[in-house]
Amino acid sequence: NPNRLQLAKVAAKAIKLMASAMKAAGAGTLALASTYRSYNTQVAVHNKDVAALGLVAGENLAARPGYSEHQTGLAADLAAVGQGCSIQVCFATTKAGKWLAVNSWQYGWILRYEDWQTSVTGYQFEPWHFRFVGVELATDYKSRGVKSLEAFWNLPPAPNY
Ligand code: DAL
Ligand code: ZN
Repeated sequence: NPNRLQLAKVAAKAIKLMASAMKAAGAGTLALASTYRSYNTQVAVHNKDVAALGLVAGENLAARPGYSEHQTGLAADLAAVGQGCSIQVCFATTKAGKWLAVNSWQYGWILRYEDWQTSVTGYQFEPWHFRFVGVELATDYKSRGVKSLEAFWNLPPAPNY
C-alpha cells in the first residue's frame, strides 16, 4: 500500500480479498489508516490521545503500550477513499463502514470495538478498528451474535487496560 503499512501476512492476504470484494460490491476503495504498530509507536499514539482528551477518554481510544492489538499485526484501522470520517465514529454511517460491519467476517475480520461495549472491552465505539481472527473463528463469532471477543471466549469484562 502507498503508506507502507504492514500487517501479518495472513491478515494482509485476507484484507486484499476483502478490499476487492468491497470494491466489487460498490462500497468503495478500502484504505488503511493504521496497521502494525511497534511498542514505541503505540507509546506515541497513547501519549497523543491522552494529551488531547485526558486520561479516561484518551485510554478509551488508545490502548496502553503493550496492550494494543495493533502490536500483533492482526488489527487494522480501515477507511475508504473519498468517504471521509476516517478514524471517526461517523465511519459507521459511510458506505464502506456499513459494508465492512456486515461483511468483514467472510474474510476473517471482526469489528472489535462495537457500540455500547465499553464496559466490556474498555474502548469506545471504533467502527474503523477490525481484528483478524481467521475465517473459521469469524464465522463462528458472527453466527453466535456476540459483540466482543471477551464474550466470545466467555472471558470477564476487561475495561481497565
Ligand atoms: N484503538 C485501539 C483500542 C488500540 O489502541 O489498540
Ligand atoms: Zn485500531
